Amino acid sequence: MFVVSLISALKSARHIAVLTGAGISAESGIPTFRDAQTGLWENFDVATLASPQGFLSDKDLVWGWYEWRRMQVLKTQSNPAHYALARLAEQVEHFTLITQNIDDLHERAGSRDVVHLHGSLHLPRCFSCGMPYMFPERISQEPADGRRLPPPRCRHCNGYIRPGVVWFGEPLPEAEWMHAELAMKACDVFLSIGTSSMVWPAAQLPIDAAHRGAVVVQINPDKTSLNALARYNLEGKAGEILPRLVESVVKAKM
Ligand code: OAD
Repeated sequence: MFVVSLISALKSARHIAVLTGAGISAESGIPTFRDAQTGLWENFDVATLASPQGFLSDKDLVWGWYEWRRMQVLKTQSNPAHYALARLAEQVEHFTLITQNIDDLHERAGSRDVVHLHGSLHLPRCFSCGMPYMFPERISQEPADGRRLPPPRCRHCNGYIRPGVVWFGEPLPEAEWMHAELAMKACDVFLSIGTSSMVWPAAQLPIDAAHRGAVVVQINPDKTSLNALARYNLEGKAGEILPRLVESVVKAKM
């Protein structure tokens, strides 16, 4: 059961903005970054795998690692939390879904115009000239966990193809960030789901939304720095809480 005031805020909202993180895809089987033991950054070297310098120093290692992750994602499916957000979008006049995730599980659940703040595993490009690269339809090589794989070369300039994700030290894609900021300013409810709220500038969005008067709702089994600011902290798994929450909003609107 949810408190009446939460359902009423969602029911009467004109614009709902949502920020998702790795936790929303955890129930699909994709590891998060910072969870103890299972988190990717517990088991792999972030400096090598998530920086332009790391790519330049060992391209085969970095390309192979992201290809391994892309293969993992291709084998997974959207979970009830992704579907619930697609359903929530239909209940409100304006809905903006911002994600830090580089998978496509929101889109596969039916969400449209997803704002990918940290890029996508599915949109690689040339390291040198930025030309987008199209993956071949058939997957010929599936690198096992950590196996080296040489990156393809750019058809335009023969540069190395790099993963289409934002690495540490790189700016966020400008259009996506502007879109996210506009939504943060315009929304009356902001949902922060499955993110540790530790990576900036994404973590700033719910904080600024709260300061501007939006109702901030957090869904996470663990506490984060956002707990102090969020009006509602729903402690638990997104795949269990979100479908029930959205069902309550749908019923309240009938
Ligand atoms: P983190 O791994 O930092 O945090 C995942 C959060 O999800 C944690 O707070 C968990 O408690 C929570 N969580 C775990 N299971 C959950 C579930 N079933 N339902 C809801 N929440 C759950 O991941 P992010 O916050 O997304 O950046 O990390 C932000 C960025 O750091 C990532 O986009 C990535 C990483 O470095 C780049 O690669 C640029």
